[in-house]
Amino acid sequence: MASADRSDLVRSTGDVMVRTVDLVRTYQLGAEPVHALRGVNLEIKRGQFVTLKGRSGSGKTTLLNVISGLDTPTSGTVDLLGHDLSRASEKELLELRRRHIGFVFQSFALIPTFSAFENVDLMLRIGGFDRRERSRRVREVLELVGLMKWAGHRPYELSGGQQQRVAIARALANQPEMVIADEPTGELDSVTGRQILELFREIVDSEGVTLVMATHDPTVEDYADFIYELVDGRIQEAKDMRNYLGDLSSRTRTTEVAR
Ligand SMILES: Nc1ncnc2c1ncn2[C@@H]1O[C@H](COP(=O)(O)OP(=O)(O)OP(=O)(O)O)[C@@H](O)[C@H]1O
Ligand SMILES: [Mg+2]
Repeated sequence: MASADRSDLVRSTGDVMVRTVDLVRTYQLGAEPVHALRGVNLEIKRGQFVTLKGRSGSGKTTLLNVISGLDTPTSGTVDLLGHDLSRASEKELLELRRRHIGFVFQSFALIPTFSAFENVDLMLRIGGFDRRERSRRVREVLELVGLMKWAGHRPYELSGGQQQRVAIARALANQPEMVIADEPTGELDSVTGRQILELFREIVDSEGVTLVMATHDPTVEDYADFIYELVDGRIQEAKDMRNYLGDLSSRTRTTEVAR
């Protein structure tokens, strides 16, 4: 996809997926409080590729957990798709996650005795889709991640990069609005990691999905729309990478060539 199409997409999807206000998360570890988030304000718009960077312990995973309703903030609010999460019941949170969010983890989290097809299919079975619809959608997402030929393979018969592609297909299976990815390239070599970031970029563009990714991977600068730098539970810097579109920066060129 040309970069012009991409910036049009971002401009035309102005609505807010996630908004946090003064988000604080303090863990109590024995007598000592651990300040994982110390007042995070951010806004994530539909159709964006958003990255959280920062050193180990800076609060990336905590922030992902809180914005997806897996964890509850100590104070402050999260608005997810127009829902104030502090007012949502456990059941509503579960439903929000199941319908609207796909998760991708560092260690893939595939079921080892299931084929690629079955791993993706399981997500749709949980969602209550009928067999024919499931079969169609599983093929569609495996095609999207370039793995249709490996549909019958089990995780141990796949490379790390291929396993992560299965996990991405699984996350996309029931067409969530948002994908949360915590260090998805953390266990991959740098070449494979770049391919996975490239795939995420393509998916954000082609499916219109919103991606929020925590990563240490510096390569992500070539693919993300926004980068938030976390330092000790606070956002220290917010970089709008789309400003680089339209000029001749190496970023735009690299992304173009890579596709
Ligand atoms: N369940 C918990 N109980 C107590 N402290 C926690 C808990 N989860 C996280 N923390 C602490 O909160 C802080 C932020 O942790 P978090 O996992 O969000 O960091 P991170 O940026 O994801 O780090 P990494 O890059 O290593 O994954 C750390 O000091 C961590 O020790
Ligand atoms: Mg983490």
